[in-house]
Amino acid sequence: MKNKVTIVGSGNVGASLAQLIAFHGISDIVLYDITEGMPQGKSLDISEACPLWHSASSITGTNDLKDISASDIVVITAGIARKPGMSRDDLLSFNADVIREVSSGIAKLCPEAIVVVVTNPMDVMAQLSRAVTGFHHARVMGMGGILDSVRFRTFVAWELNVTPAVVEALVLGGHGDQMVPLPAYTTVRGIPITELISKNRIDSIIERTRNGGAEVVSLLKTGSAYYAPAAATFQMIKAILFDENCLLPAAAYVDGEFGVSGVYVGVPVVLGREGIRKIVEVPLSKNEKEEFHKSANAVKELVSKTGL
Ligand code: 2OP
Repeated sequence: MKNKVTIVGSGNVGASLAQLIAFHGISDIVLYDITEGMPQGKSLDISEACPLWHSASSITGTNDLKDISASDIVVITAGIARKPGMSRDDLLSFNADVIREVSSGIAKLCPEAIVVVVTNPMDVMAQLSRAVTGFHHARVMGMGGILDSVRFRTFVAWELNVTPAVVEALVLGGHGDQMVPLPAYTTVRGIPITELISKNRIDSIIERTRNGGAEVVSLLKTGSAYYAPAAATFQMIKAILFDENCLLPAAAYVDGEFGVSGVYVGVPVVLGREGIRKIVEVPLSKNEKEEFHKSANAVKELVSKTGL
């Protein structure tokens, strides 16, 4: 198989993503982790499912970073996840060290790769990874917006008792408590939800969306969400490998778009084989603009704590 996707971190998100890629057979996979045996065991387990999936993906589990060489895409999921009561931002200093180390390995071993950062606080980690790799910012991005949007879609579908497949949603801003769900761009078969759901109910769906990751953490107690994060990351990988020019929300480096500069934050992008082809600016209301700026400033504040 021609394409090679490396997943750094073989925890729940990494392994679930490996499973999705193998199930769809869209690339070979390297599952890397520092914990001995874990990436090897999970890779073996997924490999043994491939015959049933008619999948030709080869899956290699490794503790040797050299095995990531010449990857087309590297997804970084490594780091610690939050526990109940923690925000994504509480993970900053531990995960920043992980991202620095992994990113310098990526720069040396996969100079042509596209990097998708999942590790939290994700927008900050994406910015750090870009700085350490030195890659063009079109080739380093973060996964958060699709996940936040898919949670929004789910709650809207439940509210209206319709299949989630006909619901589209857009959530911008940082992948944190100050994310910016946009009801005006959230539709059911093209009908804005503002025509279908009362303002009160939309407000409570927005609140649940903002709290979506924490809600799962509080139920699991020992870790954070992984099925939806893996599915959201899979959509980005597919868009890149198949050069889909898919329009989706992702953390990207903004340089004046939406009136913000010099930071990674969730915006609508067009994603293809070269990475982020463009950022798509859409009109925001005064209130949404303020919320977006607040969210971007919260990311900037955290970025400054990494020494960037
Ligand atoms: C979430 O929102 C882990 O950040 C991820 O669930």
